[in-house]
Amino acid sequence: MSSSAENDALVFWFTGLSGSGKTTIATSVADHIRKMGKQAKIFDGDDVRNILHRHLGFTPEDITENNRLIAHICVQHQKKADCILVPVISPFEKTRKEARTIIGGRFVEVYVKASLDEVIRRDVKGLYEKAINGRIENFIGISGNVPYEEPRDPDIVLDTEKLTVKACASALMTYVQKDWKRRG
Ligand SMILES: Nc1ncnc2c1ncn2[C@@H]1O[C@H](COP(=O)(O)OP(=O)(O)O)[C@@H](O)[C@H]1O
Ligand SMILES: [Mg+2]
Repeated sequence: MSSSAENDALVFWFTGLSGSGKTTIATSVADHIRKMGKQAKIFDGDDVRNILHRHLGFTPEDITENNRLIAHICVQHQKKADCILVPVISPFEKTRKEARTIIGGRFVEVYVKASLDEVIRRDVKGLYEKAINGRIENFIGISGNVPYEEPRDPDIVLDTEKLTVKACASALMTYVQKDWKRRG
């Protein structure tokens, strides 16, 4: 069941490995939107976990539940914003499909693409080193029980090994502006 109406906020659902660039790009896009005098909201997977979903861990079941709850939070805010940005790893195809169903027609799946080799090289938070050394369990992309499933049919792909942050953000701004123009 699709819930969002034509005038509801566009929801960019950023999926990609930890360190692929989701938060960086979402923050830049939110800045652009706010500079245009419009409302942008960011629901970052890490923040939502720390504030609202502290009871959830990183087992596949908990990841699925976290993603589902975030999709419902988006729906609750869709009438109060122009654009909602959701940087959340969301490693499972099934869960992303479910988010699309919960949010409806205004859902845009953005695959923030970077290879495992590249994110290990970046190791923004030093977590890959710990995960590889077995000091973190259930680490997405590293631990066998939580693989990262590449999106099969994303709406937008941003390859952060080839494009700059600026180029990624401006690709999304082009999308936003076209959408707003179309809606008048
Ligand atoms: N095109 C790009 N888009 C986004 N981040 C990039 C890009 N190229 C390099 N980076 C770097 O990759 C890292 C991404 O970190 P972050 O945004 O926290 O990732 P995530 O939120 O996906 O875990 C940052 O250090 C950022 O500077
Ligand atoms: Mg992030």
